[in-house]
Amino acid sequence: MTIKIAPSILNADFGHLAEAVQRAEAGGADWIHVDVMDGAFVPNLTLGPMVVEGIRRATRLPLDVHLMIEDPRRYVGAFRDAGADSMTIHLEADRHPHRTLAQIRELGARAGVALNPGTPVALAADLVESLDLLLVMSVNPGFGGQHFIERALRKLEQARSLVSDRNPTCEVEVDGGVKLDNAPAIARAGASVVVAGSFVYLEGDGPEANIPALRRALLA
Ligand code: DX5
Ligand code: ZN
Repeated sequence: MTIKIAPSILNADFGHLAEAVQRAEAGGADWIHVDVMDGAFVPNLTLGPMVVEGIRRATRLPLDVHLMIEDPRRYVGAFRDAGADSMTIHLEADRHPHRTLAQIRELGARAGVALNPGTPVALAADLVESLDLLLVMSVNPGFGGQHFIERALRKLEQARSLVSDRNPTCEVEVDGGVKLDNAPAIARAGASVVVAGSFVYLEGDGPEANIPALRRALLA
């Protein structure tokens, strides 16, 4: 299984976002991970559908929109119209996730659910058939540049096992603190998509060099 790399733009230069996205594409990114934050579900505030429209114009890569917002059902239509190819809601932010996931699929997008570090994988068990993507958070959501929470490796194994049994086409994504040193363990744990923000945009020679380096590390 070739693991997909989805650079997060959260740590990119927001004054030159189109360029940052195109640099990730030049580096061989598979998806672009777009972190939407509302200042309520998480203590940070980032961007809305209008910015996603701008990113949509800058790349043909699939836009993997991570909705760290309360009651995401309110905005899935607007983000789909803006160009989101997949939308991942937080289990902790939606009282009726089964309905919202169905709505995302009805809009023609891929539907994902994200689990915070404190949320057991088992809580997604009755949603698995409704998912195209199961996201295991390896940091507490809200900011880039945080340290990888090691417990996420065990949760990735649990997520891989759940998905393999119930919905083998569902992606298993990990998000937060992904670097070269933990990439091999993440690959062994069963991730099929890795998100990386600060490693891609803030370290070394930037996306064009860091994305290929991460791809090599995932194969190590
Ligand atoms: C955090 C976001 C992540 C983050 C990843 O709430 O969901 O996508 O931007 O950035 P790094 O790779 O720096 O942890
Ligand atoms: Zn994210």
